[in-house]
Amino acid sequence: MSGPNLPEHNPTPAQPASGGVLSWIDRRLPVISGFRKEYIDFLMPANLNALWNFGAILTAVLALMLATGIFLAMNYTPTASGAFASVEMIERQLPGGWMLRAMHMTGASLFMAALYIHLFRGLYYGSYKQPREILWISGLGLLLMVMVTAFAGYVLPWGQMSYWGADVAGKAVGAVPGIGATLEHIMEGSDTLGDIFIHRFFVLHFLMAFAIVAVVAVHVAALHVSGPNNPSGRPVPAKESVPFHPYYTTKDLTGLVLFALVFVALAFLWPDLLSEPENYRPANPMHTPADIEPEWYFLPFYGLLQSVPSKFGGLVAAAGSILILFVVPWLDRSPIRSARERPACRLGMAGLVLAFVLMGLVGRHHAEGGWMIAGRIAALYYFSYFLVLLPLCARREMRQPSA
Ligand code: HEM
Repeated sequence: MSGPNLPEHNPTPAQPASGGVLSWIDRRLPVISGFRKEYIDFLMPANLNALWNFGAILTAVLALMLATGIFLAMNYTPTASGAFASVEMIERQLPGGWMLRAMHMTGASLFMAALYIHLFRGLYYGSYKQPREILWISGLGLLLMVMVTAFAGYVLPWGQMSYWGADVAGKAVGAVPGIGATLEHIMEGSDTLGDIFIHRFFVLHFLMAFAIVAVVAVHVAALHVSGPNNPSGRPVPAKESVPFHPYYTTKDLTGLVLFALVFVALAFLWPDLLSEPENYRPANPMHTPADIEPEWYFLPFYGLLQSVPSKFGGLVAAAGSILILFVVPWLDRSPIRSARERPACRLGMAGLVLAFVLMGLVGRHHAEGGWMIAGRIAALYYFSYFLVLLPLCARREMRQPSA
């Protein structure tokens, strides 16, 4: 049976810090004992696998993005005539500037990769089920905020893809019936994409980065109320739990080192592997590139946007593909939490990952001919998984004797 995994889990009250100045501070503001309770003595299920490393990885990459972003912002010029030149100056003249930018760009890609793994992990192990609904919803809030931040960041160098990507996004927003033109105007600030737009997106990018930190704090606080789920999805008794430190600090550190190896290889050996060469040409409103395509992490949504015949329909489908995740805790009422113990759901999840990748490939190759058909099948499967398969599995499992 699914149910709260914690209460018997972390009964220990915060122990006050002992000795001297620290104890004096702690008696007035219990930050030290609070930290010890939540991060050192906090009881964790002993069976968490490597997929539970990604929360820590996301937190570390977020810190790196903020640190590198602040230094980039100090040298960036948010105007249509100065943006591209300032980025070039950062790359070529600013001491270590190329490294800052390589880290920030690689960080954005790997952050999104880690985010997708973190999200699909939650879907697979049923981490969205009660009592973790708020944890799940705060995570989805983070996903939306990160997407807006990544898009706003991509606009800033004001290369060809920045400009034409913004143009496509503006037209997609403009397709909303009735209020589309107003929304597009609010987004772009004037009739032409230029200074006002870049300024807006620079401020948005900067602001959202810090807002994300605040929401991460809510997300982690919610995690500490319900406690982590685990691969079995069943409540873990205290005798099968371990304090967070040293077991999970060491495990998280190991995951971080392995992730850092991939990060360093990409940032320093193949800094341009994940970036679009066309964006190394300055924005030119008079010349449309042969292929307008977003960064790889937006491709599934771009594929979805293109697979639906009408522009507005595509927009609804792309937005709906994320919004539907918000109601997953209520679509899936099964008493069994983890897909490990739900064979039909496990198979369905494999199909869901395939559909997501296929939508990305459609975005890459443009929804024409065979790709269009593939895109529609993938989109249909994606929505059917949540609206039909999950509720049906749940109904069947509710009729079974409790697991
Ligand atoms: C800025 C982005 C995010 C950060 C920094 C972050 C951070 C964390 C951390 C540190 C944990 C605990 C370690 C772990 O379970 O891996 C966690 C758990 C969790 N996160 Fe996130 N998260 C983010 C985005 C998301 C998103 C997009 C979702 C999906 C909706 C999500 C859903 C969850 C869930 C359900 C858990 C509990 C997992 C379990 O115990 O089974 N998070 N997150």
